[in-house]
Amino acid sequence: MEENSNKQPQIVILDDEVVTVRRLVHALKRDGYHTEGFVDTAEAMGRIRQSPPDVLIMDVHLQGADGVDLMQRLHPLIPDTAVILITGYASIDNAVDATKKGAFHYLAKPFRLETLRAVIAEALRHVTESASDDDATKSKGKSDRFGDIIGASPPMRAIFKTIAQVAPVDCNVLISGESGTGKELVARSLHQNSPRANAPFVPFNCGAFAEDLVANELFGHEKGAFTGAESTRWGLLESANGGTVFLDEVGEMPLSMQVKLLRVIQERTFLRVGGVKPVGLDVRFIAASNQDMEKMIATNAFRQDLYFRLKVVMIDMPPLRKRQEDIPALLVHFADYFAKQFGKPQPKIADEFLTALMDYSFPGNVRELQHIAERAVALSRAGILRIADLPPDLSLGDAKPVPADEAVQPLKALEKDHIYEVYRQSGFNQSETARMLGISRTTLWRRLHEFDLMPPRKNRLNKS
Ligand SMILES: Nc1ncnc2c1ncn2[C@@H]1O[C@H](COP(=O)(O)OP(=O)(O)OP(=O)(O)O)[C@@H](O)[C@H]1O
Ligand SMILES: [Mg+2]
Repeated sequence: MEENSNKQPQIVILDDEVVTVRRLVHALKRDGYHTEGFVDTAEAMGRIRQSPPDVLIMDVHLQGADGVDLMQRLHPLIPDTAVILITGYASIDNAVDATKKGAFHYLAKPFRLETLRAVIAEALRHVTESASDDDATKSKGKSDRFGDIIGASPPMRAIFKTIAQVAPVDCNVLISGESGTGKELVARSLHQNSPRANAPFVPFNCGAFAEDLVANELFGHEKGAFTGAESTRWGLLESANGGTVFLDEVGEMPLSMQVKLLRVIQERTFLRVGGVKPVGLDVRFIAASNQDMEKMIATNAFRQDLYFRLKVVMIDMPPLRKRQEDIPALLVHFADYFAKQFGKPQPKIADEFLTALMDYSFPGNVRELQHIAERAVALSRAGILRIADLPPDLSLGDAKPVPADEAVQPLKALEKDHIYEVYRQSGFNQSETARMLGISRTTLWRRLHEFDLMPPRKNRLNKS
């Protein structure tokens, strides 16, 4: 019993809002932490001096004291305690400043419990790692995900930390990374962990519309703006008011629109097509690109001023081949998900199946792994994912041919497989894929959408 309570991480909360303290103490106790809450600064200091907690969660604006000041004075007394500062007013400057002065993390109110949990888990991992490198057997902290995002590799952990830090701050964010690395997933997470979480998250694919249609889609139009405009229609920006606009594939934005977008970001107003009255706008912009933006700027394909406006904070998603440690957890996650979808039992994973994946370079990144898992679960027999369930070029010819009667696949599945294969061979280049398949780009777009090979809007996996 004693032993047990010793190992329980100790958390102290100090905030002058009774409600906040109560809510946090209640939630964190339920998570299994030894948690004590204080409203009175002096009382809290007494407790902290007696025995330093693992984590101290503290409001910046305390009655009669400044949290950052207090933290600095406390630091020599409790060098091993991770301090998480919370505040009602977030700005990047404050966050950076607080972190420089020794805070482990900085959270803006209102934050989601989920965010705080992730930060605490990260803080405890940090505390354990620095406190005892000798005790190698010590459990490493169980968190290998941040909400829907799975990953335990150092670059992914760093990204979780950035998300928790930047989500509550109302700044524009640019997410870069190869296709299928999880850019949209991160964008959604930024939204969900922000004060805008209850307002809409509206994705807009900047490459999906012909140049003359983009303005109409984004800004909407006034009645009579052009032939056929029978009534005023809201554009995407207007429907996102209060929320977040996700500018996907922003590098594909036509130059003429880039100018207009820059103006919207600067002035926070826009005109509907054919309109004369400016419409006020309150949205946060998150953009994503899988192209080298610096190169595009060098060749004048993208405006530098817009680039700077968008990348106030930059998050770079590493390709899966650079974080192979994430493969097992992702595989288990996807395999379980699809097993549930297909009404099959939770599959076991043969060693050689995982080994083949670990050796693979995943040009299509996590989305490709997801597709491989889906295919393997669909083909698998006896509840085991075997090497024969991998696509041929991955199983290195080891695959035994599947008996003919079991090999019959619905035409749709073959079509999906074929499109995916060509898409992959083209390096996930849509124009190239459409050309190779002899179909138009729009048709390809629809197919990719239908088969969820490139989900541009919603992410069904994360709804589970
Ligand atoms: N770390 C992760 N954990 C769980 N699922 C992930 C992760 N990364 C990506 N996925 C899944 O992989 C698929 C592709 O992710 P996403 O759409 O976010 O990629 P993307 O970077 O936006 O790709 P593209 O550039 O092609 O649009 C999605 O179904 C997403 O849920
Ligand atoms: Mg995307």
